[in-house]
Amino acid sequence: MAGNIRVLIVDDLPETRENVRKLLQFESDIEVIGQAGTGEEAVQMAKEHQPDIILMDINMPGIDGIGASQQITESVPSVQIIIMSVQSDPNYLRRAMMAGARDFLTKPFGGDELVAAIRRVHDKRPTVSATPARQARQVSSTVPVEPMALPEGNVIAVYSPKGGAGCTTTAINLAVALARRGRRTILVDGSLQFGDVSVMLNMKAMTSIADLSDRGSELDQELISSISQVHRSNLNVLLAPPRPEMADVVTEENIKQLLAVLKESFDFIIVDTTSYLSEKTLAILDQADKIVLIAQQNLSSLKNVSRFFDLAESLEYETQKVWLVVNRAKSKQGKGISVHDVGKALKRPIYGTIPDDEITVTDASNQGVPMVMGEHQKKPISLAIIKIADQIAKELMNGKSPVSNNKAESEKSSGLFGRLFSRREKAGG
Ligand SMILES: Nc1ncnc2c1ncn2[C@@H]1O[C@H](COP(=O)(O)OP(=O)(O)OP(=O)(O)O)[C@@H](O)[C@H]1O
Ligand SMILES: [Mg+2]
Repeated sequence: MAGNIRVLIVDDLPETRENVRKLLQFESDIEVIGQAGTGEEAVQMAKEHQPDIILMDINMPGIDGIGASQQITESVPSVQIIIMSVQSDPNYLRRAMMAGARDFLTKPFGGDELVAAIRRVHDKRPTVSATPARQARQVSSTVPVEPMALPEGNVIAVYSPKGGAGCTTTAINLAVALARRGRRTILVDGSLQFGDVSVMLNMKAMTSIADLSDRGSELDQELISSISQVHRSNLNVLLAPPRPEMADVVTEENIKQLLAVLKESFDFIIVDTTSYLSEKTLAILDQADKIVLIAQQNLSSLKNVSRFFDLAESLEYETQKVWLVVNRAKSKQGKGISVHDVGKALKRPIYGTIPDDEITVTDASNQGVPMVMGEHQKKPISLAIIKIADQIAKELMNGKSPVSNNKAESEKSSGLFGRLFSRREKAGG
């Protein structure tokens, strides 16, 4: 039937192939077009039948699933491979991704999981190749069309000088909202030691930002597509390392290069950060086109945010680079601080407000489903974040040039203290 997802099952055990086939037999949009019992046979059948999806076992006699995936990716690039394996060791899975696999399922898996993976990988098909995502698609024509480079994407760091202000919650939901609007978006967990994006999105850190560390100059779109993962919202995600000590292997230079490369492939690069202003966090803030600065309605938050504005000025960030967002916004009670008071105290416009809603936030994070896409997507808190995402998209995608190459770039040396000091010296102070 036209429009069906055509699937080839590869496994050396006939019984496993049969079980997988049975899991798919009642899916009207999925058609199993064949089965292969060896890697060699898989390569042959892939060339002959050009299936949309191959479900590939890893451990097989002869060429194993990784070897077969490599050959198939090279010879039939339109095929999308999903690895099925009992192993979930990160290095092993990373090898599979490097060989061109798009997803993997840990055996044993259920029908729902299998079907969801097939649909997800298939839906994502037009953008999954290693070619830069921002190159305009080839137009069907007899005259070859030069791929057109699109303008660079926008790095948006979500930052708060005070921990626990809601950066991760905001970053995740903004990123998902942008992805669901069809914007090519990647969320980078820049909270390298204790990043919790993986937990909140219910994703495993099989690959992470730590995989960049030994690649240096090899950093390109292909590597990024092999170490990032795709959430079912179509959001690309680059997770923090699975263990805190692994954060050390990621250098400032890695981060700078990473963000520069991501700008070529995505409309939006949303980076979650920690409040501690380490060199790495500063590298992210420097590189960012916009900083979504999260404040709350209390004195301690206002004090820290105000200090951050002073710092931003010292670092010569342009005023429009920082967008102030009030999270956990509550209506003023008695002599409390209103959202309006926050703007007044900080002498800045409020870019957006996100209401306080502990029940929804907690429920979404326990379920591992972002508020803006699950059962909570119509709640005021979700609508508030979607509104901010739409505002961002409108502002940054409507021909307005993003604020880039801020002046602080030229003062990359010697840390925060050094930079502030050298600036004062330059100013003759
Ligand atoms: N709008 C909100 N309403 C209610 N609770 C919220 C809201 N935003 C965040 N929270 C809660 O506040 C806590 C901190 O949120 P989150 O982890 O997003 O902050 P963070 O700035 O990333 O923190 P950290 O400094 O630990 O990285 C969490 O328990 C979260 O559920
Ligand atoms: Mg956080």
